[in-house]
Amino acid sequence: MIVRQALAADLPGILAVEREGMPAPWSRHLLEAEIFHPAARLFVAGKDDNCTGYISFRLNPPEAELLRLVVATANRRHGIGRNLLESGLKNLTGCGARVCFLEVRQSNIAALALYTRSGFRKIGTRPGYYHSPQEDAVVMQYEMNELPEEE
Ligand SMILES: CC(C)(COP(=O)(O)OP(=O)(O)OC[C@H]1O[C@@H](n2cnc3c(N)ncnc32)[C@H](O)[C@@H]1OP(=O)(O)O)[C@@H](O)C(=O)NCCC(=O)NCCS
Repeated sequence: MIVRQALAADLPGILAVEREGMPAPWSRHLLEAEIFHPAARLFVAGKDDNCTGYISFRLNPPEAELLRLVVATANRRHGIGRNLLESGLKNLTGCGARVCFLEVRQSNIAALALYTRSGFRKIGTRPGYYHSPQEDAVVMQYEMNELPEEE
């Protein structure tokens, strides 16, 4: 499975994954703005214009923030999310990031398990951070050079 930096041509594929895979998908307008934002780093899983998942970061060295990670429902539990996450973190490390932060819904068992397994650790909570439905966010931090050894 190939993970590559997203291009403008990936917008329709990313949008399709968002709409299919997220209960509150990002709009085309928001995604377009994100792809072209100077601090944005987006990666997609899939060859050519195929997209089975994507990840979106903001990079402001030495800090990075993970904004979004979505894998198409039919492609989950095949290592794509983990591959996107770890490939993205490696790329950001090469670009000067030393720490990466994220927020995740406390009920999101799948994402929490993936982040923990990939080396993120919980550093706090933000009460009532999410709306529709309202929920606390778990704040997690990843320090670069903590990627687990290849299995
Ligand atoms: C979270 C998400 C990206 C995981 O993607 P994925 O490709 O299915 O994840 P992987 O196959 O790489 O899983 C890697 C590890 O994460 C954990 N994991 C993934 N999905 C899980 C689930 N449903 N339940 C428990 N653990 C899970 C497991 O430890 C898994 O390793 P294993 O399969 O060897 O047990 C995917 O479920 C998704 O797109 N969810 C909706 C969007 C979302 O919630 N994004 C995060 C917040 S923006």
